[in-house]
Amino acid sequence: MIYTVAALALSNQRMEKTIMNIAVFASHGGSDLQAIMDGCKNNQINAKVAVVISNNGSSMALQRVAGEGIPNYHLSAKKSGSEESLATEILDVLSKYNVDMIFLAGYMRMLHISVLERYNNRIFNIHPALLPKFGGKGMFGMNVHTAVIEAKESETGVTIHRVNAEYDSGKIVAQTTVPVLERDTLETLAARVLEREHEFLVEVIADIVNGKIPLGE
Ligand code: GRF
Repeated sequence: MIYTVAALALSNQRMEKTIMNIAVFASHGGSDLQAIMDGCKNNQINAKVAVVISNNGSSMALQRVAGEGIPNYHLSAKKSGSEESLATEILDVLSKYNVDMIFLAGYMRMLHISVLERYNNRIFNIHPALLPKFGGKGMFGMNVHTAVIEAKESETGVTIHRVNAEYDSGKIVAQTTVPVLERDTLETLAARVLEREHEFLVEVIADIVNGKIPLGE
């Protein structure tokens, strides 16, 4: 078959367009971010992490991304001057990298309404418990696992949900359970849930990318 240079350029452009661009937002350790980057690298997820945004300039998340050749930005309301100008900067970055989907992987800030509206049904969050239990404002990190242990639950889990203007209350798209053992400490339970998050994230993002979980309107 004979291709002209123009036809080849066009087909390359089309091929590039078929790869979904994911923006990952993270504030601290970035182990979930790492799982997503690894899942894309080893083709378990047919997409690429196009850009990473953190509100925390000294986060491990930004350190993890530094060696990966992925564009990354430290953006915060403090640096930008206001929540509105932060939102404008975030929207500019998302549009610069043609972002199709946003994944909040341990991002500790509420997104501005203008970002939520622009990416309606294209923003997902991961939560380390079985929502709607153990969610809402203040329910993050060890607070979640402490509450699960205090409630004497025999199982906890991981929830991936769409993001709206209230903490942890968007539509649930996937959940998986994790047992709570009698001998569990806060640390052993947190570690077991986080380990499960790393596998589950990859499975669910792959389902979003391949259309099993719908993206957009
Ligand atoms: C995870 O437990 C996730 O469920 C929650 O924040 C944590 C992020 O962990 N939203 P890491 O920073 O990715 O290690």
